[in-house]
Amino acid sequence: MDAVRTRVAIVGAGPAGLLLSHLLARAGIDSIILDARSREEIESTIRAGILEQGTVELLDDVPGSRARTVGSRHDGIELRFDGVGHRIDFAGLVGRSVWLYPQHEALRDLIAARLADGQDIRFGVTAREAVGAESDTPTVIATTLDGEELEVSADFVVGADGSRSVVRTAVCGSHGGHFREYPFGWFGILCEAPPSADELIYSNSPDGFALISQRSPSVQRMYFQCDPDADPDALSEAQIWDTLQRRVPGATLHEGPIFKRDVLRFRSFVARSLTRGRMAIVGDAAHTVPPTGAKGMNLAVADVVLLAEALESLLSGGDASLIEIFDERASARIWKAQHFSWWMTSMLHAVPEASDFDRRRQLGELRTVVESEAGSAYLAEAYTGWPL
Ligand code: DHB
Repeated sequence: MDAVRTRVAIVGAGPAGLLLSHLLARAGIDSIILDARSREEIESTIRAGILEQGTVELLDDVPGSRARTVGSRHDGIELRFDGVGHRIDFAGLVGRSVWLYPQHEALRDLIAARLADGQDIRFGVTAREAVGAESDTPTVIATTLDGEELEVSADFVVGADGSRSVVRTAVCGSHGGHFREYPFGWFGILCEAPPSADELIYSNSPDGFALISQRSPSVQRMYFQCDPDADPDALSEAQIWDTLQRRVPGATLHEGPIFKRDVLRFRSFVARSLTRGRMAIVGDAAHTVPPTGAKGMNLAVADVVLLAEALESLLSGGDASLIEIFDERASARIWKAQHFSWWMTSMLHAVPEASDFDRRRQLGELRTVVESEAGSAYLAEAYTGWPL
């Protein structure tokens, strides 16, 4: 058994864990990050692509961040329904924007910057258990790639270890939290084609939802609503294109070879509590949102900003007051983002058992949003992100 000691043990080298280590290092607080995955796996996993303005501003402080150079600024989105597209002008409505920059690219930047700064990141090390939340020395017990046991003891343990978090078990026990499932998922593709539009298209159609997103001038990301148990390999490319074209009535998508397909499940979840003694959970370990509106990574970043501030005052100033209210402060934004993600989802998707009334009401809701400046401004404010 090997044992190491640090000030903050962080489980998970995703956006939350890496950004936390960056903010802690800025405050002179050392940390060790453990992740069961290899660096290559972390850097190649395809996730969402939209960064809120506040997320990009935080990444500006990470040396070498390419969010503004390789990523592209989007000043609006299109909401499409009844065969007509309506632009929501973020810049005009709220003076803010978002950046299209795939999460794995942001992870590449963060990992490179943290390693260059001397950050201790242990890839391929699986946390099995977190113990001692109520003690002064909370500890993570892990297994290395060679099967050796590793104990990381710290002044504080943070679970940034995703939806199957082991730290969450130490914080909340086996009582879950607040949970909701949805009767659909997204069929996602990456294809080689030019962009079909300058901005993202969120399309409500009688057959169901589609999202036309982008990755680069020659690679596009698109999604369409599907059965949550759909088999990604069951459809031919022609069937996929036929479905996508029908879901975006009034527009014509540029087609091209599909080189990646996946099915995303929809869930909403918030853990019962985010802290216990000297442990806290952030990001997907603490909550899950459905993907519509791309709040997942942005919400993780917002948690981390609050937690870094609380840990700095605890570990450098001996003041526990911010840690004591971390759950309450983080939850305020988490529930706003839960509402926004649920709202975008329910406004845009076709619910399998919807009645004619439900369908007409949904179109009335969409019309309210695009025809009312107040309605559009709410969408713009939430999508581009509330101030951090
Ligand atoms: C993407 C994903 C989303 O969930 C979203 O709302 C917008 C964009 C994407 O992967 O590009």
